[in-house]
Amino acid sequence: MPVSSEIFKSSKMVDIHCHILPETDDGSESLEESVSMCRSAAADGIKTIVATPHMFDGVHETPDKDTINRKIEMVLEASDRCVDILPGGEVRYSYEIFQEAENPHTRIKLNGSSYMLLEFPFQAIPPNIEVTIFQILNAGITPVIAHPERNLKIQQHPRIIAELIERGAFAQIDAGSITKSFGQEPYLSAKKIIEAGLAHFIATDAHHNDRRRPVLSSAAAIAADWVGEDYARSMVEENPEALINDQVIPCQPDPDIDALLGRRAKKSWFTFWR
Ligand SMILES: [Fe+2]
Repeated sequence: MPVSSEIFKSSKMVDIHCHILPETDDGSESLEESVSMCRSAAADGIKTIVATPHMFDGVHETPDKDTINRKIEMVLEASDRCVDILPGGEVRYSYEIFQEAENPHTRIKLNGSSYMLLEFPFQAIPPNIEVTIFQILNAGITPVIAHPERNLKIQQHPRIIAELIERGAFAQIDAGSITKSFGQEPYLSAKKIIEAGLAHFIATDAHHNDRRRPVLSSAAAIAADWVGEDYARSMVEENPEALINDQVIPCQPDPDIDALLGRRAKKSWFTFWR
């Protein structure tokens, strides 16, 4: 029997990726929409949201820290604080990362922790990414790779995500990929990454209240069908809770590369005789 999404609606979930700030990027278009998003999230069992406007993506103006904090306060007040909202950003891979890393008032870390939500272009993996991941870690920042399952290169060559995680990055899967909102390829890729134990967070990446909504419970239930309730719960509760408190991420399963590459364990004669 499929796992029910109701079991996740206990108001303990933390969403580390949400475009909830009004008129900031391609997310919420108004204060009213932000308030509706807060209410939808609270009704789904989300207690805390990290506001992650796009940063350095070459499309939207990167908001400064004061603007982010001011808009958070506006939304909190208008929504009667039905969820908590913390500052953050979704940082496009760019040289600005290193300039910001030097800044003690940096906006690129999630809730002032050592974790940064890092976004790649959808069609490519930046060249020499292993070196860059090393440099980011050396700058005292731990990258959490946003929605790797939606990246074309990772869909084609899933080993890439295993290598990045081996080098010290973490992976955040979009709830919409798990619920098939983005089509078959991100769904299959998300399933492989999660079944291989290479996912650490599921987040909404919500942009609006009527589409790409701030809900996690349905995706968590599907993930629980794939890998069991404990691991699914850790991706929406314990791991994101540790992240916002700048703690070590508690659930980091040993990777199963066969699952990632879609290989079934072969039965050998040796296996038969054991
Ligand atoms: Fe996003």
